[in-house]
Amino acid sequence: MPKFAANAPVQVSSKETEIILELLNLTVDTEGDIVELGCYRGDTSLLLGKAIQKDDRFKEKILWLYDSFAGLPAKTTFDSSVAGDGFKEGELLVSKREVVERFKRSGLKVPRIKKSFFEQLGPSDLPEKISFAFLDGDLYQSILTSLNLIWDKLSEDAIVIIHDYNNPELPGVTKAIENWRSIHKFSISQKETLAIIKKIGCQ
Ligand SMILES: C[S@@+](CC[C@H](N)C(=O)[O-])C[C@H]1O[C@@H](n2cnc3c(N)ncnc32)[C@H](O)[C@@H]1O
Repeated sequence: MPKFAANAPVQVSSKETEIILELLNLTVDTEGDIVELGCYRGDTSLLLGKAIQKDDRFKEKILWLYDSFAGLPAKTTFDSSVAGDGFKEGELLVSKREVVERFKRSGLKVPRIKKSFFEQLGPSDLPEKISFAFLDGDLYQSILTSLNLIWDKLSEDAIVIIHDYNNPELPGVTKAIENWRSIHKFSISQKETLAIIKKIGCQ
């Protein structure tokens, strides 16, 4: 019997998870660990965890997950849209325990999971080097904060994927990326609602 929110809405489509895993594979030789900021109930995290566990080439890499486990924070004006009215403060609340239990039930190594609003995290809460980052915080400030946290830790050839790019329900995500682009150099392409970003000029 499922003990947890089995009917919780899936946030990332199967086509998108396929793309995420394909891109993850491209970073197998890239220095650093894998992070997901905004893991919710761990649907994508489990797939990332499974992918790195089953492939020996990933054995040095650690998966790090971050979430408030208190649901979404408040929106800013950049986030307002009629289409996204359902994304309210406190929505998408799950417990850290649920994510831990799902990993255990799947026979997967439990990742490093940090319960915190991103805004309360500092550099020491993240790995030294990052090879692959999946940012899925839904809101303007959450995405900007996530980019700020990971940027200086990205290895050369690291891949950053941001969910909900050009999604009219969550306009703050695209605005955060545009804001970041006005100050930082990176290439960007889009597949489904995934922005695929590579930093330019990484040392
Ligand atoms: C769409 S869900 C993530 C879905 C997940 N990546 C997946 O693939 O199933 C967004 C998550 O981001 C978290 N979140 C958003 N903004 C946050 C912030 N500023 N600090 C911490 N968590 C945040 C929410 O709590 C929520 O669980």
